Amino acid sequence: MLFIGIDLGTSACKFLLTDETGAVLKTVSREYPLMFPNPGWSEQDPSHWWNACLEGIPALLEGFDAKEVKGIGAGGQMHGLVILDENDQVLRPAILWNDGRTAAEVDYLNEEIGRSVLSERTANIAFAGFTAPKILWVQKNEPEIFARIKKIMLPKDYIVYKLTGVHCCDYSDASGMLLLDVKNKCWSSEMLSLCGVTEEQMPALYESYDKVGQVKADIAEKFGFAGDVTVCAGAGDNAAAAVGTGTVGEGKCNISLGTSGTVFISSDNFGVDSTNGLHSFAHADGYYHLMGCMLSAASCNKWWQDEIIGTKDYKGEEAKITDDMLGKNKVFFLPYLMGERSPINDTDARATFVGMSMDTTRAQMTQAMLEGVAFAIRDSFEVAKSLGIEINRSNICGGGSKSPLWKKIFANVLGIPLDIIKTEEGPGYGGAILAMVACGVYPDVRSAAEALVSTVSTIEPEPELTKLYEERYQQYRKIYPAMKQLFKDLK
Ligand code: XUL
Repeated sequence: MLFIGIDLGTSACKFLLTDETGAVLKTVSREYPLMFPNPGWSEQDPSHWWNACLEGIPALLEGFDAKEVKGIGAGGQMHGLVILDENDQVLRPAILWNDGRTAAEVDYLNEEIGRSVLSERTANIAFAGFTAPKILWVQKNEPEIFARIKKIMLPKDYIVYKLTGVHCCDYSDASGMLLLDVKNKCWSSEMLSLCGVTEEQMPALYESYDKVGQVKADIAEKFGFAGDVTVCAGAGDNAAAAVGTGTVGEGKCNISLGTSGTVFISSDNFGVDSTNGLHSFAHADGYYHLMGCMLSAASCNKWWQDEIIGTKDYKGEEAKITDDMLGKNKVFFLPYLMGERSPINDTDARATFVGMSMDTTRAQMTQAMLEGVAFAIRDSFEVAKSLGIEINRSNICGGGSKSPLWKKIFANVLGIPLDIIKTEEGPGYGGAILAMVACGVYPDVRSAAEALVSTVSTIEPEPELTKLYEERYQQYRKIYPAMKQLFKDLK
């Protein structure tokens, strides 16, 4: 039996093939462009995602018997607004999770409707990247498009729809729309009517591991499948990554260092962050989680190295940052290239370097950039701590976690051991695990993760270095409050 896990990311779609023992047999990926049509806007063409599947799945199956494929599960970038007309045509490019155009709609929701009302209805407040403010933006700025909306969905739901013809969404991803009553796992009728949409326009809701349908005959023929290939509802990429890294059960933590950076804390119980810094979402294992999301994590590294210093040799640049430099950098970097979500919720915030002098080196600036991302993740840890949640260790995954230096910085900035999982492809592996559960190979997600996921190594924090980083972090956290008003004035 073979299973396909899909990770519909922001820079690429990654595909993973596994058998029922969980052995990863092959991975392939297909990139697509990200469009920034205005400063702070971020869009993608859903046809690029589907084309990536049409190319990527056959490439993944090369050398294998496609007739052995039994199930497909997808994890996808969250919050993106995908809208279709009555002929199933995409009405406009998808507005993505890191798009900051909805400051006015977020203010309206948080200030006029009110944070406590939103929190009561959805367990969350409004953030620019969430889906509801985007629907309000389209209603106001593109009324002729809004009037033609027949179906609303999230990015990975578009792939599931193209594969099966079923218009559906899972609870973990739906949680990030600000339209779901997360606690009771149903659409909030008040939120739908506030956004001028009806339940008929919304996808049917499922648990991530539920079978929603099978691959349509014409698509199955294209891929060489035989018999029914089960497609499960899938999950938001962070919940899928949590499954793929075994972050299930009370109090487990995963840090994902992808384009975004997230801290994901799984729980048996529904809970809301009273400070509204962390999101309160459903988990893909049928339970719940809290999550902090920073908008630019590994993308800061990509921006700095590719665009600014003009290199693809990330390893070479990191090699210039020697052990004796760690914890002693006088240069700081605020990583707010796309504004910031958790915990400061500020679309006007911008990235900045602080503290350079004539002797500042390129290596120190690269180091500051890597450290700034770790400090920003620590901000979400501090919120969790203030809620009484103790995080004593964490898994780490995502592209950025391939760097040994960055992992070491993270372990010492956070002061906790970081576990490295055998399978690095968090969301794709999680998608495959969900498909296995949908096919009945495992009775539930938790037992599947327990059987399939293992830790290969652990990065331990070093007491001396943790102390040095504690001092640096206390300095770092003074920078944003000092600049907050300036960012607004400079807009
Ligand atoms: C989570 C979030 C991001 C995207 C990135 O709330 O917005 O992590 O899911 O893919």
